[in-house]
Amino acid sequence: MTTVTAQPVRVGIVGAGSLATRVHYPSLTKSPLARIVGICDLDRDRLDRAGEEFAVEARFTDYRTMLETVAPEAVYVIGQPEYMYGIWCWCLSHGLDLFVEKPLGLTLHQATNLAYLAEENRCITQVGFQRRASPVLMYAQSELAAYGPVTHALCSFYKWQPEPMLGARDHMMDDGVHAIDTLRAVCGGEVVDIHSITRRVGTPDINFFSAQLVFDTGAVGVLVNSWTSGRRVFRVDLHVPGACAELDLEGVGHIYSDGSTAGSDVTAQSIAGSDAFYAYAGFLNKSEEFLRAVRTRHQAPSHFGDALKTMQIAEQILHRSRAI
Ligand SMILES: NC(=O)c1ccc[n+]([C@@H]2O[C@H](COP(=O)([O-])OP(=O)(O)OC[C@H]3O[C@@H](n4cnc5c(N)ncnc54)[C@H](O)[C@@H]3O)[C@@H](O)[C@H]2O)c1
Repeated sequence: MTTVTAQPVRVGIVGAGSLATRVHYPSLTKSPLARIVGICDLDRDRLDRAGEEFAVEARFTDYRTMLETVAPEAVYVIGQPEYMYGIWCWCLSHGLDLFVEKPLGLTLHQATNLAYLAEENRCITQVGFQRRASPVLMYAQSELAAYGPVTHALCSFYKWQPEPMLGARDHMMDDGVHAIDTLRAVCGGEVVDIHSITRRVGTPDINFFSAQLVFDTGAVGVLVNSWTSGRRVFRVDLHVPGACAELDLEGVGHIYSDGSTAGSDVTAQSIAGSDAFYAYAGFLNKSEEFLRAVRTRHQAPSHFGDALKTMQIAEQILHRSRAI
């Protein structure tokens, strides 16, 4: 639930692309914790479309001009790391609080640099790993908490996208990091061991991974990500002694306890109280974590130092891969 404790954070946004205008502009427009004070895109048409849809007059095609002119308290720089990395570094070097989308750079080198710059310049940061802020997942976690700690969790991320991934980033950096990050959030603690298998199913690049992540909490996280499956779904199964939850984070979930097979049904939409994708998929929660952190000066859960750990695990799985 949104609690208003202070003046809305004055936010500038770089990037008016497809994800940004689908989830971040709406989240920031609806949240009482934020006010969009300026937007920037190289593409004048996109800039004007976003400006009109979200009622922002201050529009710029150069991000430095925007930042100097509107002096926002925090910046969202949303777009592929292929071309946003330099802007992210610039913002951090100038002490700006920064929200970016996953992945935190294309390489471990970039992720390490970003976490370093954020810490050196005392910036509040956040990577948009919204699945750990999913309303239905958070609800299930709170329902199961009374039973005891998580024994194990499964995260399956499937798509039917059988063509080679020819862009600069691979499937791991594009999607795999979401599954790793979600398991880290629900299992808690640190990963101390990894068992993994990767495959190339009809493509030159890796498009299947399965991994067991062993946590120092005693929990085991299992992930299976495949891009040659029958449909798109992001599912989490969460187990504690005597209860479990089986959740499609953007759809229906079931919670079972004490051996009963009846269970109770929930939906992401009913728990979020909204049919708007940005709300029920966790993007609004993720932004509000960041906006509160900007006000309190205490890092949000997916600050760059934390997201770096997700990148390190992703790289380890890739390094362990055998080209079979
Ligand atoms: N969290 C999720 O579930 C999820 C889902 C899909 C995508 N993503 C992530 O979102 C990001 C992509 O965001 P998008 O879809 O909004 O991007 P996009 O590629 O659609 O748009 C990027 C925009 O940035 C603009 N731009 C590029 N360079 C610029 C510059 N120097 N100054 C100003 N504007 C500039 C482009 O003109 C473009 O309009 C990726 O990192 C992707 O991984 C996350």
